[in-house]
Amino acid sequence: MKILGIESSADETAAAVVEDGRFMLSSTVASSLDLHKVYGGIVPEIAARSHIEIIIPVIKLALADAGCGWDDIDAIAVTNRPGLIGSLLIGVLTARTLAITKRKPLYGINHVLAHAYANFITATRLPGYTLSESPPRVPALGLIVSGGHTQVMLYRSHADYELLGQTRDDAVGEAFDKVAKILGLPYPGGPSIDKAAQKGNPTSVKLPNPKLDNRYDFSFSGLKTAVLRAAQQLAGKDFTLPSTELPALLTESQKADLAASFQRAAIDILADAMTAAEKQYRPESVLLAGGVAANNSLRETLSRRLQAPLLYPDIKLCTDNAAMIASAAYYWQQTADNPYELSVIPSL
Ligand code: KG4
Ligand code: ZN
Repeated sequence: MKILGIESSADETAAAVVEDGRFMLSSTVASSLDLHKVYGGIVPEIAARSHIEIIIPVIKLALADAGCGWDDIDAIAVTNRPGLIGSLLIGVLTARTLAITKRKPLYGINHVLAHAYANFITATRLPGYTLSESPPRVPALGLIVSGGHTQVMLYRSHADYELLGQTRDDAVGEAFDKVAKILGLPYPGGPSIDKAAQKGNPTSVKLPNPKLDNRYDFSFSGLKTAVLRAAQQLAGKDFTLPSTELPALLTESQKADLAASFQRAAIDILADAMTAAEKQYRPESVLLAGGVAANNSLRETLSRRLQAPLLYPDIKLCTDNAAMIASAAYYWQQTADNPYELSVIPSL
């Protein structure tokens, strides 16, 4: 079964063809990230306009790379929740139109839950991908960490999953992005912090590890504020100093120490929750997914602290892509949606 996946929930416009949920025939991703950099975050209107301009070429390229015509495609899967409303609309309206005109079943897919399915892509002829040899075993725990989400999932089977916990405030990727801004490091903040942290001492700045009543829930906004206070103190100033003036007052080594200490604290918070979840649910595998899954230190810490095998996708499949959408649609086997009615759900 060949499924065409379409993804447009944030700043990436993506299309992919995946056969039987595992074999990735193509994966095309166009990003408007460069257009947002100057603003320090995604500008929804710019993202939506970029999707409109590029979505048809991206889909055509995904079909051509896969060597597929429309007759070869069995179904269309599209992210319809959650995400930026204008961005979601472009993908969903395109998918609905194609489903009607090409007479294909249509599946609306939850982007966050689908992230874990990047781990089910186990074969491709495309160059430059390192993939696991076999699909993960369920029951599995999922840690979905991105700019918009921080969720701990239990997948008892493909059709039976449960949200064990999530962030109560900032997503972990958002915290990386905001701390990078405090330190004057370029957007997106995750890779910038990751890089700066390599030259810093992770124990140099003491930061909080909040404990909530649900041990699978998270809070990152206090951690981000603690970094701000520590940075103001290192700069010899108090809390009245505007954060925009901080980067100029900090040395490179102070920035590296703050980055390393923040990264260590954020990873410890995630790892504490996952080790507790593993003890309680005894999964066959643990699936890491989302943009923050690209972080090497997170991967190393989880691999060290967990007993079950930790799986994480190739870096190109950690961030937003459409192969994970097509794979999730295959495994979930949902009832097809009405192409005249499928709506977008910006927040869940
Ligand atoms: O999954 P994704 O591409 O988009 C969302 O759905 O949010 O994730 C993007 C997020 C950003 O917050 C970015 O800073 C973070 O993933 N990120 C990282 C790394 N690479 C990307 N965070 C930590 N370390 C990294 N190496
Ligand atoms: Zn995502």
